[in-house]
Amino acid sequence: MPRPKVFVARRIPDEGLSAIAAACDVDVWPDRLPPPPDALRDRVRDCDGLVSLLTDRVDAALLDAAPRLKVVSNFAVGFNNVDVPACTQRGVCVGNTPGVLTDATADIAVTLLLNAARRIAESAADAKAGRWLTWEPLGWLGQDLVGRTLGIVGMGRIGFATAKRLHHGWGMKVIYTKRTPSAEAEQQLGARRVELDELLAQSDYVSVHADLNPTTKGLFGAAQFKQMKRTAVFVNTSRGPLVDQPALAEALRSGTIFAAGLDVTDPEPLPPEHELYALPNCVIAPHVASATIDTRNAMARLCANNLLAGVRGEPLPHWVNPDAAAARRK
Ligand code: GLV
Repeated sequence: MPRPKVFVARRIPDEGLSAIAAACDVDVWPDRLPPPPDALRDRVRDCDGLVSLLTDRVDAALLDAAPRLKVVSNFAVGFNNVDVPACTQRGVCVGNTPGVLTDATADIAVTLLLNAARRIAESAADAKAGRWLTWEPLGWLGQDLVGRTLGIVGMGRIGFATAKRLHHGWGMKVIYTKRTPSAEAEQQLGARRVELDELLAQSDYVSVHADLNPTTKGLFGAAQFKQMKRTAVFVNTSRGPLVDQPALAEALRSGTIFAAGLDVTDPEPLPPEHELYALPNCVIAPHVASATIDTRNAMARLCANNLLAGVRGEPLPHWVNPDAAAARRK
């Protein structure tokens, strides 16, 4: 039997790549930048499997150009880059990498929260630029954390891990939004489920962990920032398009909110001349939440397991669309 053919849209850690290469004929996109859509289409044309990244758009046109494709294994927990209904319709399985990046992502949410609250990026830049003139009683004053209220928008795995750190470490009170109550958050963190309006009005810190879908796109706009406290810190480690960026920039410029920490933007990369970079109360990281050696290795292993199960016709260990099972491409 011929070995399955697989396209891997970027170099991923060897722990995953070597497992795939042991069982499949692998073509790896060698560049640092993603394959342009035309190149992606050409490379998957006769493939059985695709390892995609969040920068690769997997849509109906791509699937139709690759009639043998059985599995799309996304090297990410988020899969808004993949048209899942189009995959399901065509019997193409979709896998993702949940769980293994929860702690790394929660660590970055807390890092950004602390950084923005205590003005670290701003004061460090001032120090380096010679603006550290003396110890100033009124210099670089930030916000306290202990005992403050944390609002988690989207109490899933990552929201919970973030809340757990801030509740146990800093004694924060936790309120949250979620479609259904989280017994774990309520029992372990004393968290209270509220409507978004209440969360925005009550929280000293708002941390976003919801996935991107048509109901969450643009969830944070001018009206939402106005509902927040003037001392509030806003953190986003989910997806950039949840936020109306011009509205966020205006809220930061006008003092409607105190500061923001972002690991995700729209677009990515955010061009260097973007107005958000010029705001001292906005700290921006280049989508690095899962970027630790161990986490990326674990993601690669999971991604390989999904891919291999997909080309073999087995159930995917982390299967986004198990409803594709009945119609799986042979
Ligand atoms: C990263 O953003 C991911 O979804 O894994």
